[in-house]
Amino acid sequence: MGMRVVLKRRTVRPYLNPQLDARVRYRRTLREAAALHDAKLAGVPAPTVYFVDPMGAEIIMEMIEGRRLKELLEEERRVDLMRVVGDYLGRLHGSGIVHGDPTTSNFVLSGEVLYALDFGLSFRSRSPRDQATDLHVLKEALESYHSDLFEESMKLLIEGYAGSFGGSREALAWLRRLESSGRYRGDRALERSLCLISGNRHKLQEMSVVAEAMGWRLRPCEGRKLEVQSDDLAEIALAAARAAAIPGSIVEDSGLFVRSLGGFPGPYSSYAMSTIGYRGLLKLMEGVEDRAARFESAIAYTDQAGRIRVFTARVCGAIAEEPAGTGGFGFDPVFIPAGYSRTFAEMDLREKSWISHRGIAMSRLLRWLEAYGGARGAPRGRRPHRDAEARGASAQTLYSARPIAAGGWPGPTRTRGASRTPRGRRP
Ligand code: IMP
Repeated sequence: MGMRVVLKRRTVRPYLNPQLDARVRYRRTLREAAALHDAKLAGVPAPTVYFVDPMGAEIIMEMIEGRRLKELLEEERRVDLMRVVGDYLGRLHGSGIVHGDPTTSNFVLSGEVLYALDFGLSFRSRSPRDQATDLHVLKEALESYHSDLFEESMKLLIEGYAGSFGGSREALAWLRRLESSGRYRGDRALERSLCLISGNRHKLQEMSVVAEAMGWRLRPCEGRKLEVQSDDLAEIALAAARAAAIPGSIVEDSGLFVRSLGGFPGPYSSYAMSTIGYRGLLKLMEGVEDRAARFESAIAYTDQAGRIRVFTARVCGAIAEEPAGTGGFGFDPVFIPAGYSRTFAEMDLREKSWISHRGIAMSRLLRWLEAYGGARGAPRGRRPHRDAEARGASAQTLYSARPIAAGGWPGPTRTRGASRTPRGRRP
C-alpha cells in the first residue's frame, strides 16, 4: 500500500525474571495500544494502530512525519502550541488516561495537526495525583529545555488544560502539593537512582555492581544508619529506614548465621567481627564438623512517598577450616558459598556481588522496581507482608520478597548456594 509505518517492539530485559518480563511486556503492549485508541476517541490525534501482537510485544502503527514540539519551541518559538498541548492533556485526563511521559519530544506537528505520541508509559487513572504527574513531567521538560519560554508556555498550557478538563483545579492543586512536599525533588534521572545509607564502602561497591548492570545508579546518602537491636535483620533494616526517612534511599542489614553455633553471630555479626573477628569464629569452631553457615541480607527501600518495603535474600555455604583470600570484608575470608571451593575473599568484586546475599536482595529490589515502579515513581499495590503487621509495622507497607525464617541450612556437602544465583542475572 506504500504506507509508512512504525514497528514498536518491547525488547526483552535479560536481567528480569523471564516470566515476569514476558508478563510486563504483554501488559504494557496491550495498554499502549488501548491508550492510542482511547486518545483518538477523546479527540487527541495519535498514531493509528494497525496491528497488535501482545505475545511478541509488538505494535505496528501509523508513522507520523513532522517536527517535534521540542524543535518547534527551540527554533521557531511556537509557544502557541502549548495551549493545544494543554487541551490534549485535559482531554486525556478527562477520559481517564494518564500519558506517563508527555515531554515536548512526544508531540509532533504534522501539517496543521499536532499529534501526541508514545503512550508506552501510559496507564488508566482518574486520580488527580496521577494527573499531576503528567503535568509535572511536562513542566520539568519546559524548565530544562525551554527555560526562556517557560512562563508563557505554562500560562498557555494551563489555559488549554482548564478549557478541556473539568478536574483541572484538583490536578493543579496536587501538582503544587507534590512539588512543595519534595515528592519531585531533583531531576528525572533520580527515577533510576537510589542512595545507600551506609558507612561501609564494600556494601556500596557490591550493590553498585548489580545496580549498574541493571541500569541503575547507586550513590551514598548523607546520614548515618541507626542500629537497633533485634533478632530479625528485616526489622533492623526497617527501623533504620524509618529513622532516616529519606525518599529513594535504601539501607541494608546483614549477618552471618552459623548452624553449629545456633545461628550466632547473626544480627550481631558486626559486633562479633569487631571483637573476636573471623579468627575468633574459627577458634569457636575448632574441631566442629558441621561447618554449615549462611549469610542473610535485608534491604529496606523507602519510596518517594515514604513507604518502606523490605527485600531479603540469603546465600548458603560453609565456614572454611582456614582463612583464605584478601578481597572483600568482614567474614569473607572464612565463608565458602555452596557450590564453590573458594571463599568470598578469593573472589573478585564482580563475582562475589552477583552471588552474595546482598547482591541477590539488591537484584530483587531492582526487579521489583522495574516491574512495579514504572513511570509513577512510587510503586504500590502490594499488600503489606503479614509478618510485618504482626511485628507492629502495619503503619508501613512492608514487602518481603522472601522472608527470613528459621531453617534453610544446607547440608555441609550440598551445593545450593550456586543454584541460588538468579537465572539470567549476569550481564
Ligand atoms: P551490618 O549489616 O552493617 O550490621 O554488618 C553486618 C556484619 O556482618 C558486617 O560487619 C560483617 O562483619 C558481616 N557481613 C555482612 N555481610 C558480609 C559479607 O558479604 N561478607 C563478609 N561479612 C559480612
